[in-house]
Amino acid sequence: MTYEGFHGSREVIAEINAGGTFGGLFATQCNQAAGSHGKVLHIIVSPNHLTDFEMNYGDDSAEAGRIAMDLCDGDEDRARAILDRGCPCDSADPEDGLELQRLRGQIAARLGYTSVEMEDEHGYSVLCLPGCEIRRAD
Ligand SMILES: NC(=O)c1ccc[n+]([C@@H]2O[C@H](COP(=O)([O-])OP(=O)(O)OC[C@H]3O[C@@H](n4cnc5c(N)ncnc54)[C@H](O)[C@@H]3O)[C@@H](O)[C@H]2O)c1
Repeated sequence: MTYEGFHGSREVIAEINAGGTFGGLFATQCNQAAGSHGKVLHIIVSPNHLTDFEMNYGDDSAEAGRIAMDLCDGDEDRARAILDRGCPCDSADPEDGLELQRLRGQIAARLGYTSVEMEDEHGYSVLCLPGCEIRRAD
């Protein structure tokens, strides 16, 4: 399925690369929430979106579980955390939670998807990976 959402940033972005904190960029359905992250508003279109339901209960769920364990070096609690859309993290270091979000994106990337459902301070959010189209909203 495709996904379309807004991404706010401080500068114009021409393409999504695999670098940075998340290996992609976050998008939200709400243009005001996106605008709170920067006034340059973009539209991102993901051609192959992975829902949380598909990741955990769909045809790819067994493979998603194996990839999660691999990404987490066999740490079951950590693998469970990245299979959870909220990527729960009890570390005092906020960077640790961001790394869990990046790893969840890597499950989707390894399965061949271009975005994955997440949950953050905006509620429903989507981490958009290389392979998505990004363009200015205005
Ligand atoms: N910005 C939004 O519209 C938006 C939407 C939904 C949720 N969020 C939330 O906000 C938090 C911060 O997200 P953000 O997007 O504002 O972060 P951000 O703008 O601070 O950037 C995060 C990372 O993206 C990297 N980056 C810059 N250009 C890139 C590119 N072209 N391709 C790939 N990576 C690139 C940066 O180097 C940085 O490491 C997230 O944890 C998320 O939960 C933001």
